[in-house]
Amino acid sequence: MAPGAAHPASLALLALLGALLPGPGGAETSVQPPKAIIPQGGSVRVTCSASCDHPSILGLETELTKKEVDHGENWKTFELTNVLSDSTPKCFSTCSENQSSTSVSIIVYRFPEHVKLAPLPTWQPVDEHFILTCQVSGGAPRAHLSVMLLRGEEVLERQPVAKGESTEVMFTVLAKREDHGVNFSCRTELDLRSEGLGLFQNSSAPRKLQTFVLPMTGLHLDTLRIVEVGTQWLVNCTLDGLFPAAEAEVHMALGDQKLEPKIMNHGDSLLATAWVKSNEEEGTQHLVCQVTLGDQTRSRLENVTIYSFPAPDLTLSRPQVPEWTTVTVECKAHAGAVVTLEDAPARLGAPRAQLQLNASAEDNGRSFSCSAALEVAGQWLYKNRTLKLSVLYGPRLDERDCPGNWTWQEGSQQTLRCQARGNPFPKLKCSRKGDGASLPIGDLRPVKREVAGTYLCEANSSRGVAKREVVVNVIYHQNIPAIIVPVVAVITLGAVGTAAYIYYRKLKKQKYELQKAQKAWEESVKKLNTPATPP
Ligand SMILES: *[C@@H]1O[C@H](CO)[C@@H](O)[C@H](O)[C@H]1NC(C)=O
Ligand SMILES: *[C@@H]1O[C@H](CO)[C@@H](O)[C@H](O)[C@H]1NC(C)=O
Ligand SMILES: *[C@@H]1O[C@H](CO)[C@@H](O)[C@H](O)[C@H]1NC(C)=O
Ligand SMILES: *[C@@H]1O[C@H](CO)[C@@H](O)[C@H](O)[C@H]1NC(C)=O
Ligand SMILES: *[C@@H]1O[C@H](CO)[C@@H](O)[C@H](O)[C@H]1NC(C)=O
Ligand SMILES: *[C@@H]1O[C@H](CO)[C@@H](O)[C@H](O)[C@H]1NC(C)=O
Ligand SMILES: *[C@@H]1O[C@H](CO)[C@@H](O)[C@H](O)[C@H]1NC(C)=O
Ligand SMILES: *[C@@H]1O[C@H](CO)[C@@H](O)[C@H](O)[C@H]1NC(C)=O
Ligand SMILES: *[C@@H]1O[C@H](CO)[C@@H](O)[C@H](O)[C@H]1NC(C)=O
Repeated sequence: MAPGAAHPASLALLALLGALLPGPGGAETSVQPPKAIIPQGGSVRVTCSASCDHPSILGLETELTKKEVDHGENWKTFELTNVLSDSTPKCFSTCSENQSSTSVSIIVYRFPEHVKLAPLPTWQPVDEHFILTCQVSGGAPRAHLSVMLLRGEEVLERQPVAKGESTEVMFTVLAKREDHGVNFSCRTELDLRSEGLGLFQNSSAPRKLQTFVLPMTGLHLDTLRIVEVGTQWLVNCTLDGLFPAAEAEVHMALGDQKLEPKIMNHGDSLLATAWVKSNEEEGTQHLVCQVTLGDQTRSRLENVTIYSFPAPDLTLSRPQVPEWTTVTVECKAHAGAVVTLEDAPARLGAPRAQLQLNASAEDNGRSFSCSAALEVAGQWLYKNRTLKLSVLYGPRLDERDCPGNWTWQEGSQQTLRCQARGNPFPKLKCSRKGDGASLPIGDLRPVKREVAGTYLCEANSSRGVAKREVVVNVIYHQNIPAIIVPVVAVITLGAVGTAAYIYYRKLKKQKYELQKAQKAWEESVKKLNTPATPP
């Protein structure tokens, strides 16, 4: 039931009471209700009454559509319909000649048609103030209308809504990290509780705020500064303290070549790594890393010098030569580089170097190395090449390789050394003159007298034969029996002496025993020979 539309009967009763009580000093006009609040377009009944002791002329002065719905002697009830705005109709009465009037205050209320949160900045830097605007259209009475800014369900601030059909209410907010991804909204409140009505709320659609932190400095780009043509290398781009790190975008490029970085986040840190392959073009190129977050970008540039530096050309006139051949070693650098050939006469800063030698056996297996140096972006780079020379010689079998006279004690431990030299490596064969037994090269333990003899060694290779005699002497003792004879003699004598002594002792004992036996026997014979004495 509309608040203005009070029951007509009760209104009539009130009007009657007012009319019956005479006003002080004659005619008085009164109205019921003196004040009404109704929804826009609604209707309200107003009863005008006069305190007159005889019938009076009563009326209601208004621009609103009115209709008399009831009346009595000194009262009239009018219905006002389609009330669109606030209005103050006036009740008047004429009692005798006295005229009086009183007005009724009709207040119209309505809910806002639109409550909107103006679009937010897409990205808002943390720790900066920004403005949120609530747009309210309609809504009355404005004195009772306020608007609130909500962060999620939390009321941040409340402001009154100024008069005017469409009003904007601005709120200043400090952006925080915690606000990232949070819904903000506006809510109006039409508070008619003081008028005996309720509290009416209308809300806007929510808008999500995105806040970010992108430090001004601290973007690092780690890369090689000088790179050889065709190399692949890893480049790192790092930035700390950015928020929300996961939403950062990274762009990396070397010159026109776009790279595909792998992006990793750890808390507020960002690490982007990318493989770069230098193209065939020499020169300085720009390596760029750009980090974009929110509406801001940080970038870092490094110069990368791409160079070409082939290893030097090292050549031997012939890689394999017979002994006493002249060999030429030559080293040539590529454009821009200088070379140093080991053992060659030093010529600083030369792009080529040469060395000649009369190849000897000692040069077999000798390494020749050449080092090329190139200056790139103030830094010296080196590349080396090494070649080995092979000298054909031999076979060699001299005192140093195979000593010709060995003299050893029998039973001792010795090592017999005999090794031929040569390129190609010669085959060695040593056989004893006479029986052709082979020479026991290596460890001998113990030396036996059978190895003694004169051996003929032959070292054989495609380059010829070398021969050498090896004499092995084994010393052993031939006077061993001379020592043994006296020893055996002494031992024999000792044994015989001992045996003789033992025999003599035994003999003596036997003699004594015999004497004892003889005595006993003689006694018994004596007894037998004596005649028996009669008892
Ligand atoms: C009209 O009203 C005035 C003041 O209210 C009063 O003094 C006067 O007597 C009244 N006249 C009549 C005719 O009632
Ligand atoms: C924010 O509002 C959108 C749209 O109404 C809703 O889908 C989303 O769930 C809300 N987010 C939060 C965190 O309340
Ligand atoms: C505003 O709120 C009231 C109730 O609080 C509701 O009846 C009305 O439809 C709402 N207006 C809009 C435009 O949503
Ligand atoms: C790039 O980062 C990776 C992983 O942290 C590390 O292993 C590598 O050494 C870094 N490279 C450079 C050039 O800094
Ligand atoms: C890169 O090279 C340019 C000239 O090509 C120079 O102006 C710039 O200072 C260099 N940048 C760095 C970081 O060395
Ligand atoms: C190389 O050296 C050997 C021995 O010294 C000598 O006989 C020979 O003539 C030299 N060869 C050359 C080409 O100088
Ligand atoms: C190459 O030679 C230079 C000079 O002789 C030396 O400093 C460098 O260590 C060598 N590099 C290699 C990889 O052998
Ligand atoms: C071999 O050596 C022994 C002792 O070392 C010596 O007596 C002998 O004369 C040497 N023989 C030869 C042929 O050199
Ligand atoms: C060298 O050895 C090869 C094969 O082992 C043999 O054919 C050749 O006759 C030997 N030469 C000499 C001179 O002993």
